[in-house]
Amino acid sequence: MQVSKIAVMGFGVVGSGTVELFYKNRELIEQRCARKMDIKYILDLRDFPGSPFEDKFIKDFSIIENDPEIKVAAELMGGVTFAYDYTKRLLSRGVSVVTSNKELVARHGAELIKLAKANRCNYFFEASVGGGIPIIRPLHQCLAANRIERIAGILNGTTNYILTKMVYDQLPFDQALAEAQRLGYAERDPSADIDGADACRKLCILGSLAFGKHIYPEYVHCSGIRNIALDDLEYVANAGYSVKLIGLIEKTEKGLVATVCPRLVSVSNPLSGVNDVYNAIMIRGDSVGDTLFYGRGAGKQATASAVVADIIDAVKHENADIASLTWEDSADRSFMVPYKSADVRVYVRVSSHDADSLKGLITTLFGYVDFIPRKHRSESELAFITPAIEEYMIDKKLAILSEHADIMRKIRLL
Ligand code: HSE
Repeated sequence: MQVSKIAVMGFGVVGSGTVELFYKNRELIEQRCARKMDIKYILDLRDFPGSPFEDKFIKDFSIIENDPEIKVAAELMGGVTFAYDYTKRLLSRGVSVVTSNKELVARHGAELIKLAKANRCNYFFEASVGGGIPIIRPLHQCLAANRIERIAGILNGTTNYILTKMVYDQLPFDQALAEAQRLGYAERDPSADIDGADACRKLCILGSLAFGKHIYPEYVHCSGIRNIALDDLEYVANAGYSVKLIGLIEKTEKGLVATVCPRLVSVSNPLSGVNDVYNAIMIRGDSVGDTLFYGRGAGKQATASAVVADIIDAVKHENADIASLTWEDSADRSFMVPYKSADVRVYVRVSSHDADSLKGLITTLFGYVDFIPRKHRSESELAFITPAIEEYMIDKKLAILSEHADIMRKIRLL
């Protein structure tokens, strides 16, 4: 019987997890695929003496590129230089590529999908969003009958872990981040996690697939969780909310709006109870309504689960591209509207020598607002939640308020 030969490029956390999972469940995988399969090469510049896969390691990409037996390759190297070059070269030769590389998909997805289709192969990236959570296939297959109206998700495990630690262990941001780094969740340079770039890339992939046009990271307003203080978390809890880093893309009457930023999430919303390194994604379709996908958003085994599933699908679909996994490139962003043109409610914390005296001005500016109580609240501080107004208007009103008080924090509501 013919054996489908696979190449794995990159033997880091996800690469090693993929190889280990494949051999652990190989018999079952082959049954489900109705094909014999084997990993022929593992590409990595490092040496792995004593590895059970020692005979498979190579350092030269051209061996994979020039081997006609290889019909599927997993790009698990990360980055957008070699990964981009190798992916293009393989797809050009009709070799399907599967990846967990969200940076590459968010930056070059439209081009790579087009290249795959032109060469009757596939570019799959289930593992690029939500780790092990099935989300890419449900979006373009199970929900294919729907017009997608909104996607809202907790798309980064590190920031969710930090926010959970802040609430439950009362650790300030810096200490919660140090704990995340100690446990290996955050990178040594954690800025891609905590400033929102990682979640932004994932939102771009989901949004592109849902709305059919490439949403580049520059099209998304992005801010992270560095400024969230324990004081804010206490105020919002008193008002019945938690704070989560939310990737949100939604269709409004004016156009598509996309943001990644911390948001207050009502305790009645299931996203509010998603804690630790877990991710969750809510997708609203015009027929199905709200759907919720939940699971481990990162980690070796969870991500390998999605990569191996893509390998199986790529082997099953040799010489036939999956038509629904696609979107167009978009050179301009005219289909998107500025996030500040969307109506939003915001939480505001202000500081002034006599904050209570500002209540009249705040009410005059915003109409009805919810002032939030807090035990032992200092007289120099006040927190409130505005009604839903266009964000440009909110900023104008806050500019007037800032003549009388320091605006300490502004956090949008979901
Ligand atoms: N740093 C990412 C996270 C890893 O924390 O979610 C998975 O993309």
